[in-house]
Amino acid sequence: MPLETESTLRIRSLIQGFRPNNGDLLGALHTVQHEFGYLSHEALKVIAEQFEMFPSHVYGMASFYEEFRFTPPPETTIRWCSGPACRTKNANGIKNAMMAVLGIDELGNQTDDGKCGMILGQCNGTCELAPMVWIEQKSVYEHPVGNLTAAKSIKIARALSENSDVPEALND
Ligand code: FES
Repeated sequence: MPLETESTLRIRSLIQGFRPNNGDLLGALHTVQHEFGYLSHEALKVIAEQFEMFPSHVYGMASFYEEFRFTPPPETTIRWCSGPACRTKNANGIKNAMMAVLGIDELGNQTDDGKCGMILGQCNGTCELAPMVWIEQKSVYEHPVGNLTAAKSIKIARALSENSDVPEALND
């Protein structure tokens, strides 16, 4: 039997409390994705063992939900607010400007080098900052950036594609 990798052991320890036939599968998928940022083949296999299922069935279940991803996330994700207050303040223009700088043709995609991606976001009630985006790094740090203009959004997108600091890019 091949030796288990460090990540296999980590996945096992993360899901050891979840039980088959207990409605726990979604919880296990969320727990693993929260730790690794996505569900790898290895993760699907380990989860399948724990739940006494085929990996293809676990994948089938997970792929039904939009929140699960099966490829590593980009280093930085721009979550673009699609809410009504942002839309009335040129949110679409901001989205298009950022996507043009990054060379991304659709929300949900990322740059070829995996540095930056852009996804759809929903209003979280901070509409006084409209139009806005949230910059997420390593799936943990979330930096809201509001009162965007096309020029400011281009500057931020350039900084992210060059790996500079976002706060630095916000200084005029
Ligand atoms: S509509 Fe964008 S924050 Fe509310």
